[in-house]
Amino acid sequence: MNTHIEKINYKKPEIEKIRLAAELIKTGELVAFPTETVYGLGANAMDENAVKKIFIAKGRPQDNPLIVHISNIKQITELVRTVPLEAKKLIRKFWPGPLTIILKKSKIVPNIVTAGLNSVAIRMPKNKIALKIIKESGCPIAAPSANSSGKPSPTSAKHVYEDLVTKIPLIIDGGETEIGIESTVIDLTTKIPRILRPGKITEEEIQKIIKITKKSYRCKKTKSPGTKYKHYSPEAKIIVVNKKINLKKIKEQYEKDGKVKIILEKESTKNTAKNLFKEFRKADKEKVKTIIIRGLKKEGLGTAIMNRLEKASTRIIN
Ligand code: TXA
Ligand code: MG
Repeated sequence: MNTHIEKINYKKPEIEKIRLAAELIKTGELVAFPTETVYGLGANAMDENAVKKIFIAKGRPQDNPLIVHISNIKQITELVRTVPLEAKKLIRKFWPGPLTIILKKSKIVPNIVTAGLNSVAIRMPKNKIALKIIKESGCPIAAPSANSSGKPSPTSAKHVYEDLVTKIPLIIDGGETEIGIESTVIDLTTKIPRILRPGKITEEEIQKIIKITKKSYRCKKTKSPGTKYKHYSPEAKIIVVNKKINLKKIKEQYEKDGKVKIILEKESTKNTAKNLFKEFRKADKEKVKTIIIRGLKKEGLGTAIMNRLEKASTRIIN
């Protein structure tokens, strides 16, 4: 299959390009498009065959459920059994935006989307291009991150192309994504809501709106199926250094194994999130054997970054 990249104006998305994407979605094809977090690989969430293609293109295990993206808050009502008060409060505060909410699913959501679970993950993204594609398609769009399974999430159209060329017909190129790490995922199906995946919207911010189980994603037992897979990993080994020591010292220790690279030293937390996955991919291209990165304080966005780093790391120096 020929993979076409269509550049689109980020601020004023051209309607004909939105339509090009929407037409493919409507006919059961896949389209990769930017969201404010990472690029997503979308299909009509109501079309089982279309959703199947997502799993094939990514090489994604069938037991890992997808997030359903909507463009209008009203769309949620048909996808879930009920919208509890807590969900309403979170939606009012954080949608559109990088928060995914898990609720009990309605019958119309195909089992392939939820990997057979009786819950469904829903998000209304903030990115204009994403919103317009969903709206123009006229259906909710199931979309995981648009990487091959096991690779870091894509933050540019180039990353998507590297992973999915010949496997999908269209990539909508809206430039680099703003946030750079995936959405916060919160489970509202349990008595006390839990964060399953930390993200840009932090535990601290959510706690101001509703009561949640604290630091739950640090539990060993995972409820989010996706979190059990090896994730976000470049080929290179990742060494996270929390200890107050010069990173050059650590670098020297690893040089006997091959090329070593210190990444994102002295970057702000925001820029670290934005560029982390790009740096991982870059290091692989440069045949780096060991990546060294300074650990961040686990607060705010730092929590989400450390969650990704700890998963990808082979060693943490404390
Ligand atoms: O920012 C994001 O969330 C991006 C953009 C494209 O929206 N999407 C994304 O999707 O990161 P994905 O599939 O790469 O990650 C979704 C995570 C997975 O860990 C999955 O297991 C979890 O959400 N998930 C989805 N549905 C779930 C459910 N019903 N119960 C528990 N976890 C669920
Ligand atoms: Mg993913």
